Amino acid sequence: MKNRPDLSSLEFKLHAEELAHLSVPLRIAMAVKHWVAKGLLRADDQLPSSRQLALRLKVARESVEIAYSQLEAEGYLLRRMGSGSFISATAIPQLSGASAVRRRSGPLAVTPVQVLSHRGEAIHSGGGVVDQPVVRPFVAGVPDLRSFPVDIWKKIYSQVLRETGSRALQAGDPAGEAQLRRNIAHHIALQRGVHCSEAQVIVLTSSQQALALTATMLFDEGDAFAIENPCYHGARRAYEANGLKLVPVPVDDNGLRTEILTQLAPARGVYITPSHQYPTGSTLSLERRQALLAWAYENSAWIIEDDYDSEFHYDGHPTSSVQGLDPHERTIYVGTFSKSMFPSLRIGYMVVPLKLVQPMATARTLMDGHCSVIHQLTLSRFIEDGHFSKHVRKMRSVYRARRDAFVFEFAKHLEGTATVTVPKGGLQAACQVADSRSEQAWINMARDQDIDLPRLSRLYIGTPQQFGWLAGFAAYTPDEIRLALIKLKETWRQQRRR
Ligand SMILES: Cc1ncc(COP(=O)(O)O)c(C=O)c1O
Repeated sequence: MKNRPDLSSLEFKLHAEELAHLSVPLRIAMAVKHWVAKGLLRADDQLPSSRQLALRLKVARESVEIAYSQLEAEGYLLRRMGSGSFISATAIPQLSGASAVRRRSGPLAVTPVQVLSHRGEAIHSGGGVVDQPVVRPFVAGVPDLRSFPVDIWKKIYSQVLRETGSRALQAGDPAGEAQLRRNIAHHIALQRGVHCSEAQVIVLTSSQQALALTATMLFDEGDAFAIENPCYHGARRAYEANGLKLVPVPVDDNGLRTEILTQLAPARGVYITPSHQYPTGSTLSLERRQALLAWAYENSAWIIEDDYDSEFHYDGHPTSSVQGLDPHERTIYVGTFSKSMFPSLRIGYMVVPLKLVQPMATARTLMDGHCSVIHQLTLSRFIEDGHFSKHVRKMRSVYRARRDAFVFEFAKHLEGTATVTVPKGGLQAACQVADSRSEQAWINMARDQDIDLPRLSRLYIGTPQQFGWLAGFAAYTPDEIRLALIKLKETWRQQRRR
């Protein structure tokens, strides 16, 4: 007979003060891991169904579903359709000999040494934000690297090395190389209506680093911080990891619902993706941009504007930045070259008011010091010589065709199974299904075919309002898209016949 653990210590852990700032799913996941670490759960032990546990803990069933999915993704749980959720053997700490035998024997039980701080444990159980190194349909957020002009990049790289000699091999400025800062300032002024001088641009390894820096330098632990719901998980993790109290604000077809934000107790900041909301794809309306700016000014709050993929807008022009409308310098503008160039380049940037440049650059010296100088100089020349604009223009039309192919083939092969929201831009499309059961069923079915359907519901804080996937289309040719969708159709038909 399977061991079914008593739930009382899980309840206790769920309400523990040190976890109070975390979301319910994260608290459940951490409580289960705590049990595993303490030896109170062992391989093959069965957890209650999500419905039973939700009733017992008085939380939404979706929260338990999200926690279980997270535990499954991290290898703690095995979920077997129709029979339940079981602790996986790989989750159990490897204790040797006698200790392993005594692990479950009450007062004598061996308590594993507490390795991580509470903050460390929260960061670890949050799962971080891992870019998939494998590119296969429909991993989201990945640009097409097969189309990158590697030869031009190589040529410029060698030129820069030749011209600058050992200078390109030395340590760099924590705020970035001057010529790259200048080229970025020029580019975003022209393309995104950002108002800044080059001195306000700080070159970083990624937008993720910008989020981490804003989290540590602008806010204190326990500060209320508003965030779009659903939300980019990298942003959520960055602010959670710094102990901010996240205040989810719903989004609709016009972006973040500012009328709700302004009614809530004042937050110290807000994270937004106004040009192309992640993951719904909506655009923040002008009226709401103005309401948001007024709110930030009145509350002395910061707006963190993540403009992660606005180079790729397919229908008309993208709206220009919120930063460009802000007369009061309350907006931090964040951008990245991960999508427009390639993810391993590790170059992103943020634009901050002048008074924040030095403090941010100093904080950055405690992280990684600076970005690779040779890569910054190569990128700077790549932009200056017009290759960047040319590449973006080319990829915009490639991605537009792939988006259209995805929407067309989806309608042809999977009509009626899910609804695709046609994105106006970006590298992925949100596809909705009715509930968490079908979301899970599709994800499992796809996984058997080596297809990734990144889960939509996990991007919600609290009860998910939508289920489905955020399917990446940009990195796959129309043929690859079609074949993957046909595979899905066939598996779906076989399942229905059973
Ligand atoms: C909304 C959003 N912001 C930022 C990023 C990541 O950019 P970076 O690689 O520069 O951290 C992503 C990546 O998918 C994203 O979706």
